[in-house]
Amino acid sequence: MYHLLKPLIFLLDPEKAHKATMTLLDTACAVPPVHFIMQRMFCSGDEALSTNVMGLRFANPVGLAAGFDKDGKHISSLASLGFGFIEVGTVTPIAQEGNPKPRLFRLPADKALINRMGFNNEGLDALVRRLKKWRERNTDTKLIIGGNIGKNKLTPNENAEQDYLTCFGALFPWVDYFVVNVSSPNTPGLRELQEKEPLTKLLLLLQEKNRSTGKPKPVLLKIAPDLTDTQLDEIADIVRSTEIAGVIATNTTVSRNNLSTPPGITDSIGAGGLSGSPLRERSTQVIRRLREKLGTHAAIIGVGGVEDASSAREKLDAGANLVQVYSGLVYQGPAMVKNILKGISPSFS
Ligand SMILES: Cc1cc2nc3c(=O)[nH]c(=O)nc-3n(C[C@H](O)[C@H](O)[C@H](O)COP(=O)(O)O)c2cc1C
Repeated sequence: MYHLLKPLIFLLDPEKAHKATMTLLDTACAVPPVHFIMQRMFCSGDEALSTNVMGLRFANPVGLAAGFDKDGKHISSLASLGFGFIEVGTVTPIAQEGNPKPRLFRLPADKALINRMGFNNEGLDALVRRLKKWRERNTDTKLIIGGNIGKNKLTPNENAEQDYLTCFGALFPWVDYFVVNVSSPNTPGLRELQEKEPLTKLLLLLQEKNRSTGKPKPVLLKIAPDLTDTQLDEIADIVRSTEIAGVIATNTTVSRNNLSTPPGITDSIGAGGLSGSPLRERSTQVIRRLREKLGTHAAIIGVGGVEDASSAREKLDAGANLVQVYSGLVYQGPAMVKNILKGISPSFS
């Protein structure tokens, strides 16, 4: 079915196509029998796929990556596509427009996307309101919700900690785990927060606030695939010293290597983070290196170019406990999670 719809969807501007498909999905899911049929079609009830990670019980190991539902507007509809977990955000304390459009581009020859969205989001208060409502309506849910937090573009790096702490505090009652995003290439200077000193300070402050709640929640760090091996080893040390729960590897890359799309096209698109198939190998390398350095110490969520069972299995074999998808959903459509789960089920452990 999706292979028939995809050429039509791909006629639209990518950001408009995203909005249109989400409206279509929400409309379909608002009709109870359709919602029921979708759950039957796309959700796996296979108990063997459930897994305990970071003290949380995931119904299956495939999640939706941050950025797809930044404002938490479509959680129920997206859950009907079979995800074990959904990460909302990146949210910033104050609503912001993000970068001028166009800012999202498809590279069909590479099954890839380039985006420079720039943390467009409706702000923390709007997300908290939606999550609260969603929790009230879904008291018996098994879906795990992650909250991915960032800083506003206008907040200088010296004051970034306050933005992260504000998001952490307000989201705390409504999410199951947190992700500290210091790796988006689209907020100027953000990735400098991946350096040892500011990162350690930021994570220690968040952990202090986390412990002060009496019931701390898992905090993960989302990293860029463009870090050197030395920087990755430093990240592993920071994970240990700050005692955070784990790492999400990886965000999008600024590299344009190994693409089938002609350089003339990527040059004309300009700056942004590349995601999808071309990121697959690098993000797997990052996972493998981190797992070697961390031992069994922390959780790793693998993301980057996951689109089918073999790409998901590759991440799990490299040491990831869970995987996430974004670009794969655009290219493979709504049956993707079910297909991945079918493929990894016999050997999942
Ligand atoms: C349009 C778009 C927006 C994104 N927004 C965010 C974001 O707000 N926060 C974040 O941590 N990652 C964001 N990402 C990165 C994804 O979560 C993911 O790490 C990356 O796309 C690699 O996965 P993929 O190859 O499955 O797409 C975004 C990716 C895309 C394509």
